[in-house]
Amino acid sequence: MCGIVGYIGKKEAYPILMGGLSRLEYRGYDSAGVALGGRKDIRLYKRQGKVADLASFAEGKDISGTIGIGHTRWATHGEPSDRNSHPHLSQCGTVAVVHNGIIENYRELREDLGRHGYRFVSDTDTEAVAHLIEHICERTGTTFPEAVRLALREVVGAYAIVAISTGDPDTVVVARKGSPLVVGIGDGEFFIASDATAVAEHTRRVVYLEEGEMAVLRRNEEFYVSSINGHDERYPIVMEIEAELEAIGKNGFAHFMEKEIFEQPETILDSMRGRLDPETGEVRLNGIADHIDRLAEAERIIFVACGTSFYAAILGEYLIERYAGIPVEVDYASEFRYRRPLIRKKDFVFAVSQSGETADTLAAIRLAKEAGATVLGICNVVGSSIARETAAGIYTHAGPEIGVASTKAFTAQVTVLSLITLALAKRRKMLSDEELIRLGKELFAIPEKVKRALTKQNECREIAVEISRSSDAFYLGRGVCYPVALEGALKLKEISYVHAEAYPAGEMKHGPIALIEDGTPVIAVAPDGEIRDKIVGSIQEMKARKARVIAIVTEGDMATAALADRFVEVPVADEFVVALLAVIPLQLIAYYTAVTLGHDVDRPRNLAKSVTVE
Ligand code: F6R
Repeated sequence: MCGIVGYIGKKEAYPILMGGLSRLEYRGYDSAGVALGGRKDIRLYKRQGKVADLASFAEGKDISGTIGIGHTRWATHGEPSDRNSHPHLSQCGTVAVVHNGIIENYRELREDLGRHGYRFVSDTDTEAVAHLIEHICERTGTTFPEAVRLALREVVGAYAIVAISTGDPDTVVVARKGSPLVVGIGDGEFFIASDATAVAEHTRRVVYLEEGEMAVLRRNEEFYVSSINGHDERYPIVMEIEAELEAIGKNGFAHFMEKEIFEQPETILDSMRGRLDPETGEVRLNGIADHIDRLAEAERIIFVACGTSFYAAILGEYLIERYAGIPVEVDYASEFRYRRPLIRKKDFVFAVSQSGETADTLAAIRLAKEAGATVLGICNVVGSSIARETAAGIYTHAGPEIGVASTKAFTAQVTVLSLITLALAKRRKMLSDEELIRLGKELFAIPEKVKRALTKQNECREIAVEISRSSDAFYLGRGVCYPVALEGALKLKEISYVHAEAYPAGEMKHGPIALIEDGTPVIAVAPDGEIRDKIVGSIQEMKARKARVIAIVTEGDMATAALADRFVEVPVADEFVVALLAVIPLQLIAYYTAVTLGHDVDRPRNLAKSVTVE
């Protein structure tokens, strides 16, 4: 949830740490801080607010030093404040720690340390770890890395932790359990981050720490990786990351979210690149090549995911059941993990996740694995925890998504799910060759059509101005457009803070219609398709209650458009792929509503990009 950075080497640490924090700010941004190490003392600068506030605070202060750690926080324990910001110092100031995750037994640790005379200045769980490391060093006289190991053995919970100490000023110790951590290897230096994007500008060579591992990084270039529970060392496997730095910039757009919305023609194409031959309808999914035949025979596929990824999974359910004829269930990962689901060994479980680090989705994966199911992944972040913990999977190749509200990751997930559908339909002979070729061509044509859908900015902007004056909005869809409606409503809620609800259009009459008043905005996702007439009926019901109806219609469908107060056209497309088009105006409407209301679009309140805590 939070962002972690660290550095040890020959260069000045402060600018490197601050650069990394700025890149990671999207992960959490209620406060930020850095600690610069040394033999005499650790200098600590931290501030509630954004990284820019920290920079102003540190101006004119001693920011020299070649070792340091930093953190950008999204509060879990204790309100956002200067004193709750990370890094946290131990009582005598000998140890500084940054932490991402949640320490479940922090109350017990605090009580125990309290009995040894430790006083706490913050409300955080993390401060206990700083004290504990110092306490173990003093009590046992052991080395700093060993003290970290012993301390972590007492810690229950999830964490990525980076620590420095005055007692060992040429060493950084890092550890992970449940939260990602990556070490970048430079020229006689190490960069540490919770996300590879923060090290990419310095080095492409990285080592991902595995679950339950810690690493000791020394100024003399020594690098040891071992398990926290044992002492067994492993040889660090160095990987190359491909993140394009310019892909991390805003490319002239006002916000990352805007940039990511407009990137979709390319990202959708990237998701199918090398996987779909539009001439033959042939789909090649190398990532799951060893599983696809068995998957086609599956009695049941279960999707687990959260948020936007969950809505993509619902779309997957519609597609796979309809075109490939395999029963599909979709579950919120957070529910799946606790509702004691009946998982059979023959089941295939698909985890869908942009970040690949979502704690609930990871827990669902582990549960399914324990039950003996085959667990596959659909992930965007290469080398992420979900990618590594699943038997196999398909990357969505949408590139780094920085805007907290997911957009291009959603369309990339839907593209991959459409490819899976075609691959399964072919194996199960559910579609004729002609039909497979036709649908493959429909999918292949989507990037160009998304480009056209993106030209409707003005219409979407005008609609956004109207919605920005409302306190509520309703989104209606049916069939494949129901998950699109859900996603549109989530986007609006997340960044504009306008209350939004999505319903399958047929459900409105069973209760929610009571909420419709004169002028209530109702966005009806009504492109051409089998059930378009049904949604037309719902539009009429809404109009009869004086709702202000905004319809998303297929180009040229003036009959449906005429029923609405406003409309946005999307290009003609088969129902198999129409969701990829219908969602575009909804993303734009949410974006422009938030802009109209003056909100910080890329950093919406209370949200973080990757939810690595339960
Ligand atoms: C919505 C959004 C969240 C995520 C959810 C799952 O815009 O970004 O709802 O979709 O937190 O995250 P991932 O896909 O990273 O598992």
